[in-house]
Amino acid sequence: MKISLILFCLGLVLTDAAVIKQNKRFPDDFFFGTGTSAYQIEGGWDADDKGDSIWDYMTHNMPEVITDHSNGDIAADSFNNYKRDVEMMRELGLDMYRFSLSWPRILPTGVPNYVSEAGITYYNNLIDEMLKYNIQPMITLYHWDLPQKLQEMGGFMNPLIADWFEDFARIAYERFGDRVKYWITFNEGYQICYEGYDYVSKAPRLNATGVGEYLCARNLLLAHARAYHAYNNDFRPTQGGICGYTISISSAQPLNDTEEDRLALELHTQAEWAIYTDPIFSKEGGFPKELSELVAEKSANQGFPRSRLPAFSEEEKEFIKGTSDFFGVNHYGGGYVSFSLYDLENSVVPSTQDDIQVGSYAPEDWPQAASFWLKRMPRSLYIVLKRIHERYDGNVPIIVTENGWSTHAGIEDEDRVAYYRAALEGALDAMDEGVNLLGYFAWSLLDNFEWMAGYSERFGLYEVDFEDPARTRTPRKSAFIYKQIIKTRVVDHGYEPHSYVMTIDEGH
Ligand code: NOJ
Repeated sequence: MKISLILFCLGLVLTDAAVIKQNKRFPDDFFFGTGTSAYQIEGGWDADDKGDSIWDYMTHNMPEVITDHSNGDIAADSFNNYKRDVEMMRELGLDMYRFSLSWPRILPTGVPNYVSEAGITYYNNLIDEMLKYNIQPMITLYHWDLPQKLQEMGGFMNPLIADWFEDFARIAYERFGDRVKYWITFNEGYQICYEGYDYVSKAPRLNATGVGEYLCARNLLLAHARAYHAYNNDFRPTQGGICGYTISISSAQPLNDTEEDRLALELHTQAEWAIYTDPIFSKEGGFPKELSELVAEKSANQGFPRSRLPAFSEEEKEFIKGTSDFFGVNHYGGGYVSFSLYDLENSVVPSTQDDIQVGSYAPEDWPQAASFWLKRMPRSLYIVLKRIHERYDGNVPIIVTENGWSTHAGIEDEDRVAYYRAALEGALDAMDEGVNLLGYFAWSLLDNFEWMAGYSERFGLYEVDFEDPARTRTPRKSAFIYKQIIKTRVVDHGYEPHSYVMTIDEGH
């Protein structure tokens, strides 16, 4: 009896001791944050004079497309709970917090002849509350909630989106730029363009396969460059911040170590993310060569009078090139790719998939998140960071603007803890090999409306009780682990929280 008690205590001591696999630490100026987006957390969907976004419109008119038929009308009610959100940032000891602006909360009809002062006040209050505690705001201008009125005028299919977006961006810089020094124009081009315009897995569900994405990508890149130049020319000289761009990258690897599978990976890369980043970060500018040629050739064979992916003019290429002060990357999962994995029989023609004909798979034994698309691939964040570093000028400053793991409702999240530890170890390894990584944002601060999955998938370090009108927030184990990593700057596998009571450390 006594011996087993001693062994038990010894076990506790052993698990409590530091288990740091590598002798590596994050530098003191490396910044840690968490991210959210307006529609996913705010609620207040019709507060004051706010206009409708494409997500308000879609969830109200087609609730059946959302897994649990829910919407973001109230969400985590951060519109009313923003002070509690900032308190949570202080509990975690964050250096930064990334959030997005709801365009229709600021410009109810999408255009700037009328600015909602109530909308501006909401964001001013949030920014000022964060700054009171020295937490730097990072604003994403566009995280998917386009004003519905602009969608009715074509949204990203209309090249005028560049004017509309620049106008909106200028209002944001004017009204918040005295205090906000980190800007992101667009969050995840592929998800905006492919999922929203080519396919039906995001609003506005246009379903224009093989055409919608490419037109959207072209218009989005021009809109991005307009907003960047506006900041660079007219605001940076007095405000002194930085402005970047964020895309999502999976850690795809070739199925076999063959030339053919390496080509499959390159085409997969071009279609998934380089189409959105080569125009900005490559030396030549413009869309990736192989993809452009493939789409042009297929378009001609399919009877289109011109390529479904319209090239940029030389002038446009120059205008877009270099328009990002950092490379913002969101990363979640990965898998193996090969031409041999493509399901040719069920290929939709035309479509972006059919254009490249590359298939993918993730092994059964990789840990599975609550989201069907998310599996934990070994070394995945490391792979992604190295790939960006190698594709572009080796010193491109990178910020991981999102990284995270979904569970179902509940407070237990050992698998999220394992995911974060593995990802952050990968980040340390990549930095050790010369990757210029400036900071890391966990997704997400708190549970939120996970788009088509509604509230059925949870990404929060804090659980939100969506049944409770107060939307009570409770830290999960991962919150304590992340806090410890931020504080100590090392990834310690042995660390176990001594209690599950969250407090604010001195100085926060
Ligand atoms: C990326 C998106 O930016 C974010 O809104 C979403 O919740 C996460 N991925 C998880 O799917």
